[in-house]
Amino acid sequence: MSGIHASHGSHGAGDRGAGDPAGDPAAWQPRPETAADTTAVRRIHLAAFGTAGEADLVDALRRDPSAWLPGLSYLADAPDGTPAAHALLTRCHVDEVPAVALAPCAVLPEYQQRGAGDTVIRALLEAARAAGERTAIVLGHPPYYPRFGFAPAAHRFGILPPQPWPDEAFMALSLDGSTPPRGTVRYARAFGID
Ligand SMILES: CC(C)(COP(=O)(O)OP(=O)(O)OC[C@H]1O[C@@H](n2cnc3c(N)ncnc32)[C@H](O)[C@@H]1OP(=O)(O)O)[C@@H](O)C(=O)NCCC(=O)NCCS
Repeated sequence: MSGIHASHGSHGAGDRGAGDPAGDPAAWQPRPETAADTTAVRRIHLAAFGTAGEADLVDALRRDPSAWLPGLSYLADAPDGTPAAHALLTRCHVDEVPAVALAPCAVLPEYQQRGAGDTVIRALLEAARAAGERTAIVLGHPPYYPRFGFAPAAHRFGILPPQPWPDEAFMALSLDGSTPPRGTVRYARAFGID
């Protein structure tokens, strides 16, 4: 399983020095990925995760038209224009009902803990809302994703993971305020989760 992380793993806090423009969340510029961003996206995931798994996963998802949702791959640029953060939503299903899966998300290590991840994920979820998506799911750090409105998927919504993942780490979010479908999540094939 790659691209999906549920641990409380260590996260090095970046220095938020006074006068550091990247310490201001408003400094991050979120935007959809373009054709010119493929290398930058790889660079972010390679650096953030320290392995090629997530970078390769993004490339595999991009090649799968049944998974890739144009406009739902987002970057956030640092004040100097460096692509610093990336977050991706791809097609998944809750039983047979379409939903979107948030994975992977990553920030270049030198820009972590300064709001870049927060900015890119909020912008991406807003884009998904605007595109008419109704339900998002994520397997991730339990303390991080509730700030975006995610809540434990099984306990709160009756949305079950495809594998026995920790309840508090497998989360769901209603993007439009409606009651999400109940059922078991099926990820895009590239995730290798069956
Ligand atoms: C996780 C990640 C995307 C967060 O982005 P970020 O820009 O560093 O974080 P933000 O500045 O938006 O948010 C900082 C907050 O997130 C929390 N946070 C960051 N990484 C965390 C982690 N691994 N576990 C739990 N909480 C985490 C911080 O404690 C901080 O909390 P606070 O606002 O209450 O002080 C980024 O740190 C990253 O790329 N990490 C390595 C790859 C990874 O783990 N990806 C996510 C897989 S689920």
